[in-house]
Amino acid sequence: MRLSATTAPDFVLADVDRQFTLDPYPVYRLLRDHAPMCRQPDGSWLVTRYADVREALGNAQIFSSDKHIDFKPRFGDSPLYEHHTTSIVFNDAPYHARVRRLLAPFFAARVLREMEHSIGAMVDKLLDRAAQQGTIDIVEEFALVIPLNLIGDLLGVPYSERQPLRAWARAILGALEPVCTPAALDLGNAAVVEFKTYLRQLIARKRAHPPGADNLDVLWALVRAHDQDAELSELEILHNAIFMLNAGHDTTGSLIANGVDLLLDHPEQMQRLRDEPGLMKSAIEEMLRVESPLQIGNRRALCDTELGGEKIAAGSFLHLVIASANRDERQFPAAENFDVARSPNKHLAFAHGIHTCAGNSVARIEAVIAFSKLLQRFPRMRRVAAVDRAERTRFRVVERLLVELEP
Ligand code: HEM
Repeated sequence: MRLSATTAPDFVLADVDRQFTLDPYPVYRLLRDHAPMCRQPDGSWLVTRYADVREALGNAQIFSSDKHIDFKPRFGDSPLYEHHTTSIVFNDAPYHARVRRLLAPFFAARVLREMEHSIGAMVDKLLDRAAQQGTIDIVEEFALVIPLNLIGDLLGVPYSERQPLRAWARAILGALEPVCTPAALDLGNAAVVEFKTYLRQLIARKRAHPPGADNLDVLWALVRAHDQDAELSELEILHNAIFMLNAGHDTTGSLIANGVDLLLDHPEQMQRLRDEPGLMKSAIEEMLRVESPLQIGNRRALCDTELGGEKIAAGSFLHLVIASANRDERQFPAAENFDVARSPNKHLAFAHGIHTCAGNSVARIEAVIAFSKLLQRFPRMRRVAAVDRAERTRFRVVERLLVELEP
């Protein structure tokens, strides 16, 4: 795809090629400069500037997250439709607020502090194994293992039963790509069915042996909201649990894998981080900004409105390109540079407004511990092969990243 200043308004998100999925950033830059509110053939809008993306994310009164209308043509009457229209993230008030309130206690500062120890112990174990192997796939043997186990703990999924979670997440989230093949739909629908069956069995076991007061988990909290207060239906429990398990590990795995890739591409920044470990938190924010794990969010206008100088008709669908907003030169000086000391850094990687990622503190803690220990333990880290990326537009996924680690 050759896009120029004059052809930028003709860009079609549903028509992108492999080159775009591997490196969408030059195209997003052209769009920001020459077609920041890019009308798509189906009438939707592709929004690429920071100010516009932030404004839409921040105004849930006008820009709805509810996907009941938008997902009908894509998913029909299917398990994927049921899932994606029942989870917290794709709903508005009052249902959204009800689920958010049930989740809040699990993200309190005290709970997060308690997690630090177990994350540290898990990372140490993974790095012990890496030291023995010498060369590892950062994705499979590090980046994904940490969040998968953490989210498994958080939802009370037994350790030995976590193996299928990753494939289910990939299949269910993969169906959200701007273009979805019939095969991907089949895979996604089968994953929802299997996931629900598994969770129903797990809930039955929890009901038979309820977790103790000092051992509460998110799934049990949702079940109690159903059993005691009739706050949630059975389907609402299942789909919010599925969403949490998926959202909690895929994106965080991407943050860690993309972060390693960025450090390998910028050895001077990696050295700076080793010399000044106090920069770790700002380095993680910079990784989130430069390679945002969730690249595109969507909203629907509830009434006639304006955005980015355009008139937006009620019912219009918007693609909010977080990945582009986070590289907008109007907001971030030298936006294309990866700078571990960047400050301020008000990126939108966790969105903004009422749907701001509920797990953002968890993801941040996981990444800080993972990178601190990785850099401390291995003074030398070398790429063994070029990074292998999934051809995805909505999520920034690393498939494989082989790295040699030297103590
Ligand atoms: C680097 C890792 C992560 C990134 C980049 C990320 C990104 C996001 C974004 C952008 C949203 C809002 C989507 C929208 O409004 O369209 C979101 C929502 C959400 N995320 Fe995350 N997330 C991450 C990790 C996590 C983790 C670890 C958890 C759970 C432990 C989690 C749980 C949630 C939940 C529950 C929501 C729905 C919030 C709501 O609708 O109010 N996320 N995430």
